[in-house]
Amino acid sequence: MKKYITTKSRLLYEENKEYVIDGVGSYFHKAKYQDYPISMAYAKGSKLYDVDGNEYIDYVAGFGAMLLGYCPETVDRAVTNQLKRGTHFSAPTKELGELGKRLTEMIPSAEQVSFQNSGTEVVMYALRLARAYTGRYKIVKFEGQYHGWSDEEKISICAGSVEELGDRNCPNKIIHTKGQRLSSADDLIVLPWNDLEILEKTLKEQGDEIAAVITEPIMCDSGPILPLPGFLEGLRKLTIKYKVLLIFDEVITGFRASRGGAQEYYGVTPDISTFAKAIASGYPFGAVVGKKEIMECGLHAAGTFNGNPLGTVAALATMEEISKPGLYEHLEDMGEMLCEGFQRLAKKYNLKVYTRHIGGIFVLYFGFDHDVKDYREWLEFADIEFYEKFVKAMEEYGVRMTDERGREYISAMHTVEDIQRTLEIADVVLVELTA
Ligand SMILES: Cc1ncc(COP(=O)(O)O)c(C=O)c1O
Repeated sequence: MKKYITTKSRLLYEENKEYVIDGVGSYFHKAKYQDYPISMAYAKGSKLYDVDGNEYIDYVAGFGAMLLGYCPETVDRAVTNQLKRGTHFSAPTKELGELGKRLTEMIPSAEQVSFQNSGTEVVMYALRLARAYTGRYKIVKFEGQYHGWSDEEKISICAGSVEELGDRNCPNKIIHTKGQRLSSADDLIVLPWNDLEILEKTLKEQGDEIAAVITEPIMCDSGPILPLPGFLEGLRKLTIKYKVLLIFDEVITGFRASRGGAQEYYGVTPDISTFAKAIASGYPFGAVVGKKEIMECGLHAAGTFNGNPLGTVAALATMEEISKPGLYEHLEDMGEMLCEGFQRLAKKYNLKVYTRHIGGIFVLYFGFDHDVKDYREWLEFADIEFYEKFVKAMEEYGVRMTDERGREYISAMHTVEDIQRTLEIADVVLVELTA
């Protein structure tokens, strides 16, 4: 097995850097371990093809957006048809209502819908909606959870060490970037996840100032970490008891955990939920959904491209596609194969490997083999250095995985052959890394 030659990517990066900040469209397009990012030329199904002509089996999936794989025919056809009729009208369309209706039929918490263009925007709107409805301003968020990159969203999303997170009962609010206002965190209460005791204490003491608790129902964006049995149910009970709204950020779990999101998978219905990424198969789009009474509280979403016809038809075609039988069974089968394969390799190389899968989300980590309950435990056990070396080497042989945080995405287009090939390459890489 030969390592890929990626000279054109290197040269392109040098050129791009002259004109484009960091030489990338998004900071995350270049992994920390990379000297230069791999530039892509085209994609199809489960594969990406770089500018040097190399083929990659891909588990990054446009950061989760490509649940149906690259270039899904029915979605692209819907978009192509819309292109000929006009891309942007600044007016409602027939399809807008059709999509709204469809989402309310599919998602348990959805009685009404509002459309935006990204995960960052839907979370911004959900927080404002919760504040508008309750007349309160504080929001509880959990450490290690990423909800987007606006000032208020980018708080306590990661840390270099457990010490940096501070006291478990009253964690530090970590500001992550230059230019982020220190006051961005003033209205946030940061807590460790999967801990109903600390949450109840907080709600008891400050409930009358708290508008909402926001959480990913499966903590995907760091870890990933699963909810302990009873945690989501307890969260729902406590938020009802203390009259605080519950927001599920389903930007990743939306349409990956199941057709109706993680809320359907776990049978716990929040007041408001946010969807983006996979909702429109790679076309920028997002939706906030919730109870009618909350959605109609008098707050209005503004935005030049909100509910634009291209995103709308892409989302409608995506919903059509994921409603067909067989998709989630296929994702579960592929996830199971990956889990079994990596556990086999773990035994062979005497490594601690953690794997789990739910729908189109697959978790792979090194350094522990048991469930962890929160970001603190994940930080304590995760062998980040080994994982990064592993991902770097996998890419050199043609498998593209998520850097740093171990969350991989499976699509409708991954095949048994893709998984077998991935495991064969992992075998070669682990020989090198454990030598
Ligand atoms: C759970 C969650 N919420 C919100 C966001 C922000 O989404 P976007 O990158 O589309 O702004 C992300 C992005 O990764 C996410 O994982």
